Amino acid sequence: MNPLAEELNRDLQTGAPQILGMLSARGKAIYFPFRGILGQTAEAKNTKINATIGTAFEDDGSALALECMEAMVNLSSDSFLYAPSFGLPKLREEWGKLIAAKNPSLKGKTYSLPVVTAALTHGLSVAGYMFLDEGDAVILPDLYWDNYELLFCEGFGARLLFYNTFVNGGFDVEAFSRALRAGGVGKKVVLLNFPNNPTGYTPTESESKALAEAIRESAEAGNRVVVVLDDAYFGLVYEEGIATESLFSLLVDLHPNVLGVKLDGATKEDYVWGFRVGFITFGFKGAGAAHLKALENKAAGAVRGTISNAPCLSQSMLLKAYTAPEYAAQKKQKYDILAGRARKIRALIQAHPEYARSFEVMPFNSGYFMCVKPIGVDAEALRKELIANYSTGVIVLMGLIRIAFSAVPTDRIETLFANLHAAVQKLRGARNLFGAAS
Ligand SMILES: Cc1ncc(COP(=O)(O)O)c(C=O)c1O
Repeated sequence: MNPLAEELNRDLQTGAPQILGMLSARGKAIYFPFRGILGQTAEAKNTKINATIGTAFEDDGSALALECMEAMVNLSSDSFLYAPSFGLPKLREEWGKLIAAKNPSLKGKTYSLPVVTAALTHGLSVAGYMFLDEGDAVILPDLYWDNYELLFCEGFGARLLFYNTFVNGGFDVEAFSRALRAGGVGKKVVLLNFPNNPTGYTPTESESKALAEAIRESAEAGNRVVVVLDDAYFGLVYEEGIATESLFSLLVDLHPNVLGVKLDGATKEDYVWGFRVGFITFGFKGAGAAHLKALENKAAGAVRGTISNAPCLSQSMLLKAYTAPEYAAQKKQKYDILAGRARKIRALIQAHPEYARSFEVMPFNSGYFMCVKPIGVDAEALRKELIANYSTGVIVLMGLIRIAFSAVPTDRIETLFANLHAAVQKLRGARNLFGAAS
């Protein structure tokens, strides 16, 4: 093992051996190469003649850039250079401040500085790199973002272990708790994604507390629990009584055996899907500065070893936006558009009791999506029918129809639901006719 990795592992071993025990073999072996090109470049930062890193500069010392590209960007040409593997230091700081502001009960609690990833998917991959060995189980609800299969199963040889998502119109906390209790005592990797893709569900305040309690009980029983939080749609909560803070707030001081790994970022929250900027942040009860630094270094090492660094241009733009005075008001405006669509769907469902003959509405209160379960027809047949005869596109996942209301103009939502109802009735009518004739 590289001596730098051994050093980080020793930092964890001293005072946090349980966290070291949560790392995968890859996670134990990874380190940030401070003594390589990057470290030597950093040491040479203030030299008069700097012939270290593989970027190019004009004779006047500015970043060498094609003017046709510079003309497109209202930022200094420094944004054409590499960002550090950890991310732009000021952006990490700003995002840290935003996490604190959006999660007020983190106040006074200890957690790491966010490390920049190339958006959430890459952040999840970094988490897999650090915590998943071949054959490890990832515990998650049975309604989930399907990319977790590629990320964790194909990427790291892990298994997905499902539990039931909903009971009585709410999150099935008991099923979650049972899944955590199943199997022997040891390392457990849990993945929670709220607001959820595909359902658009976020737990209520009391469900959130119950989830944290179940995690605490598991830790008290001797398990070492890595809780990976996919907070991609954070902040988009539309109803009263629904948790507005990330579960991270409850996890960072829950129990020494519980490590919170928060994945979040600009993609969905700030409506910049193609920017590819996300963050990974760590916290656990009793964490010291050296422990958190060791986890940050390992995450940045995983970034360096996979994509080297996330796009500097996007990071520079986001940094400028987060410190712009109009940022908060503009963000609220966009939130209002999505919240308005969610409200409209609620009202439509109430106004059309006949829809209950065609589909069951799954619980939703947040995010970009909501789901319905078609009654008496196959979801895939319904999806095809909607495209062929109603010019309406939806997604089928796990037997449900997922509706991305984030992508549908408000004045087309009514037609979307009318089409859904009509298509179900038509398919059922055709089947009944066929049944009667045969
Ligand atoms: C639950 C969830 N996590 C992560 C992502 C990926 O986010 P990013 O585009 O930032 O990689 C998505 C995108 O659809 C998602 O739905």
